[in-house]
Amino acid sequence: MSIHISAQKGSIADTVLLPGDPLRAKYIAEHFLQSPQLVSQTRNAFYYTGTYKGKTITVGASGMGCPSIGIYSYELFTEYGAETIIRIGTCGAYTTELQLFDLVNVDQACSESSFAQYAWGIEGTAIPHQGKAFSIINETATSIGQAVKSCNIHSSDIFYRKSMDTPEVAVANHCLAVEMEAFALFANAQHLGKTAASLLTVSDIIPTHERISADQREKSLLPMMELALEASLKL
Ligand code: HPA
Repeated sequence: MSIHISAQKGSIADTVLLPGDPLRAKYIAEHFLQSPQLVSQTRNAFYYTGTYKGKTITVGASGMGCPSIGIYSYELFTEYGAETIIRIGTCGAYTTELQLFDLVNVDQACSESSFAQYAWGIEGTAIPHQGKAFSIINETATSIGQAVKSCNIHSSDIFYRKSMDTPEVAVANHCLAVEMEAFALFANAQHLGKTAASLLTVSDIIPTHERISADQREKSLLPMMELALEASLKL
């Protein structure tokens, strides 16, 4: 047990996939894992551990935003001995260089968030992915014939705001898309010497207002789930 996760010690795998949404964690566990066990449901943040092609994997919810993923990833790394966390989520594209359904393997997460500085004294607005998971995801994508793009993304603290302009921190760091969690995950992993990556599906194109419809959403995320699971076999 940790403060926010009620799993028994030893019941979380070395490799953890972290979607934002608890029901997405449940979906992955039920559709992709063999013998999934629900190991924590504190605050309805479901965590399941099971096997994928013989490898033990945990999938659980990060919640939304840097504060939430900051808590879950820290406890997974420090209380449960997780070595690798792959966030799997969605992002909004700032540019039509990206298209709906594109998969993005995050190179650097950039943010106005004070999380990294206040938590660990990490200065600057950009934090790279940590360790080998990023390149393993790219290699795995090539080997299974799945297209994936690498770029910097903006981990924003803000979903709703006054201006539609791309925020300065995103422009300055050449971020092609926005989500809300990778920065805190990478900061924790950097501080703790752990491995972290973030794989995102483009769910909306901000300048054109295109968006994946609610009924397309579940199916559209399957390639990302499969790539993260296949990459996990090599971690
Ligand atoms: N903003 C922040 N996070 C997101 C978005 C967005 O437009 N789309 C998907 N995740």
